[in-house]
Amino acid sequence: MIRIAPSLLSCDFSRLKEEIEKVESGGADLLHIDVMDGHFVENMTFGPIIVEAIRKLTELELDVHLMIENPEKYIERFMRAGSDYLTIHEETADNALELLSSIKKLGGKPGLALNPDTKLDAIRQLYPSCDLVLLMTVYPGFGGQGFISDVLPKIEAVRKAKREGGFKFEIEVDGGINEHTAALASRAGAEILVAGNAIFKSPDPAASVRKIMAAGEKGLVAPRGDSQA
Ligand code: DX5
Ligand code: ZN
Repeated sequence: MIRIAPSLLSCDFSRLKEEIEKVESGGADLLHIDVMDGHFVENMTFGPIIVEAIRKLTELELDVHLMIENPEKYIERFMRAGSDYLTIHEETADNALELLSSIKKLGGKPGLALNPDTKLDAIRQLYPSCDLVLLMTVYPGFGGQGFISDVLPKIEAVRKAKREGGFKFEIEVDGGINEHTAALASRAGAEILVAGNAIFKSPDPAASVRKIMAAGEKGLVAPRGDSQA
C-alpha cells in the first residue's frame, strides 16, 4: 500500500485551511511539513508555532521534516507542537541514535533523512531505532525540483535491508514526485510518497493526490523496465 504525504511547502499559506481540506478530500494520508533554517539548507520556512497551528486544522498525522542544524535543540518543541513523525537529517546529527530515542520517548515516530549523495553506511546501524527512513530525491531546500533517479538504487537497497533485517521502519521518498516518478519510487521500495508542487500547484489538488496514489500503486505491480505508470 502506498501512502501520500502532500508537502505544505508548495501550498498557498494564506489559505492554509482550504489547502489542507483539498488534500484531505483527495485521500491524503499524512501532511508533510518542511522546516528549514537557512543554514542546513538555503531556504527558510517556519518553526513549531506553525506546526501547532496546523495541528489544530487537521486530524491527519503530521510528518515533520527537520532540515535544520542542531536538531537536538528543537526536538522537544516540535513534539510539543503536535508532530507525529519527526525526522532529522543524518547530516545534521552528531548523535543520531540519541535523538531518535528521545523522539520516541516523547511519543513521536522517529525518522532519519538522507540527502541524495549520503551513503547508506551512515545509517545502517540506526535502522532498528527508526520508524521512518526518508530518502531525498532532490537536494533539500526547495519545492519544484526534478527527481534525481540516481537515488533509485539506494531506495532498493533500503527495501532489501528492511526485508532481510525484518525492520519495521517505513520508507519515504521526498522530492520531485509526480504521476510519473511516483511509480519509479514505489517500484524501488517507497511506501510513503511526499509531493509538493505536483499537488498544490495543480488546478485540482484532490485529484492530483488520487493520481499520484494510483501511479504509486501501479509501480508496485509494474514489471521492471516499464518506466511509465
Ligand atoms: C524539499 C522538501 C520537500 C519538497 C518537495 O527540500 O523537503 O518536501 O517540499 O516538493 P516537490 O514535491 O515539489 O519536489
Ligand atoms: Zn520534505
